[in-house]
Amino acid sequence: MVGSRVQLTKAGREYKACCPFHSEKTASFWVSPEKQFYHCFGCGAHGTALRFLMEYDHMSFPEAIEDLAGRLGLTVPHEGGGGGPDPQNAPLYELMGRVTQFYAQTLAATARAGQYVAQRGLTAETMQRFALGYAPDAWDAVLSRFGARETDRRALAATGLIIERSGGRGEGHYDRFRDRIMFPIRDSRGRTIAFGGRVLDRGEPKYLNSPETALFHKGHELYGLYESRLAGGTLKRLVVVEGYMDVVRLHQAGITYAVATLGTSTTPDHLKRIFRLVREVVFAFDGDRAGRGAAWRALQHALPEAREGREIRFLFLPEGHDPDSLVGAEGRAAFEQRLDGALPLSEYLVRELSAEVDIAHADGRARLAEAARPLIGKVPAGVYRELLIARMAEVVGLPAERLEALWQDGMALPPPAAARAPLRPQHSAGRGSLVRQALARLVRFPGIAGTITDAERAELQNCTEAGAELLRGLLDDLRARPLQIAAQVIERWRDRPGGEHLGRLLEREAVLDDEAAAAVELQAALGKLVDLGVDQRLRALETQSRSRSLSEQELKEFQMLTSRKAIRNGKPVRR
Ligand code: UTP
Ligand code: MN
Repeated sequence: MVGSRVQLTKAGREYKACCPFHSEKTASFWVSPEKQFYHCFGCGAHGTALRFLMEYDHMSFPEAIEDLAGRLGLTVPHEGGGGGPDPQNAPLYELMGRVTQFYAQTLAATARAGQYVAQRGLTAETMQRFALGYAPDAWDAVLSRFGARETDRRALAATGLIIERSGGRGEGHYDRFRDRIMFPIRDSRGRTIAFGGRVLDRGEPKYLNSPETALFHKGHELYGLYESRLAGGTLKRLVVVEGYMDVVRLHQAGITYAVATLGTSTTPDHLKRIFRLVREVVFAFDGDRAGRGAAWRALQHALPEAREGREIRFLFLPEGHDPDSLVGAEGRAAFEQRLDGALPLSEYLVRELSAEVDIAHADGRARLAEAARPLIGKVPAGVYRELLIARMAEVVGLPAERLEALWQDGMALPPPAAARAPLRPQHSAGRGSLVRQALARLVRFPGIAGTITDAERAELQNCTEAGAELLRGLLDDLRARPLQIAAQVIERWRDRPGGEHLGRLLEREAVLDDEAAAAVELQAALGKLVDLGVDQRLRALETQSRSRSLSEQELKEFQMLTSRKAIRNGKPVRR
């Protein structure tokens, strides 16, 4: 039926074409005859054959609409958000409301603060719309006004507005926010549940946020969502940005559908909230390295929420700009044009994955297929996922069936001779040394470097095993500047000391295809390396104690190391 109106070409089990719903030069419109479904990765148009008739031929099918609404999971926006109200929290909401007012009044009355917001280009109307305020430069401005009685102080502490002095006898408190421009974070009913506070000029941290409280769970809230819904008109899409100022300035410029996560990356929880309201979301990120890292994390969190009927796109701003500065420089129309042209998730995925592999060669395409597998695995089974697989198959140059079959077998790369052997014994110093195991996993799945904590990294500092230096270097590099696929690591390390070693490691090591397992194995290898270091040091101290008596310092160290070993309940690690 679709085929009679659009020029379709076959692509495996599916067909593709230039999208009839928006103008484009490359085909991003996919049709699955088996599923009787179409989806455009470009503009998000999608639906069943019935829907196609409605949209393309402008027919009306009243009964079809209802049927489709259910089928596409289009739910009516929910008032009030989730979770029943906890009556205990009522006084806290009320208190937050009064403090919001107090901060707003203080802003109006403080010339220095007024000058700052004016210099940031904010109008009086914007300040009112977002209920912006100013926290005075004092340790007890909120405390003295709102904390007269013990119960009041308890409430203030529960909202995170005041902090208990440590070391005191429990009687001292002080204001958390001092000399900051205050951004109230409001829930879907407009109640203030937390604040973000920005320093006026220099100072650390630039933004201070309320802690997690009974009212505020930052992985769930989106700054500006209340204001976006308040803006009037029907919300069609949301643009997710990184900062408070970005949201405020976009709204002021007329882009009244901007929201921000609160210093965290986008969680699946955020996306669930977003898709309850709209079917289209654009992530806008700074064009710098940090922005690209954040975009990749957002993509990973978005994959489980991707499905037909939802449009997820990515916008990368020119280097040196954030949405605040860009909308200031270009204005609303130009910014919205950028939003309209943002990269669909599928294309962003393809672009990132193929960035550092050579798709002209079979080997590069195999690597790409391998890297795509765990990502596409996160997309829920359904038409969208199948079309995504078809798109990936097209890039890799395989029929979709064949790609899926390869993935199912868990081997996108031709296996080397000793492939898929279980983990080698852990203790030999040669091929299977702990350092080597750790390196191999890091190269293969560079993303797992992010699972290593600062504490774990610090413990490796004194490791003297062969290759430990390279391991520390690679770990630090990947933690500071994350990469996604092996080819990128090889590329970046090409001219660095140890770089050629990493390349060989990748070629020779058995095929690893499970990122989660690799992360666990990396942790295990690092833990064992640390244990090994502890054992070596203990032995050295023991040896010394036979020829001379240990110093006070050395005795302390000895004690510390033995108790550490006991805690880790490890048997001594032998090489
Ligand atoms: P940015 O540093 O990009 O700030 O942080 P910004 O939004 O552009 O702010 P201006 O323009 O300098 O005023 C982006 C977001 O990261 C969080 C805040 O949510 C901030 O809006 N952040 C940043 C913090 O929570 N703490 C910080 O110290 C810095
Ligand atoms: Mn900014």
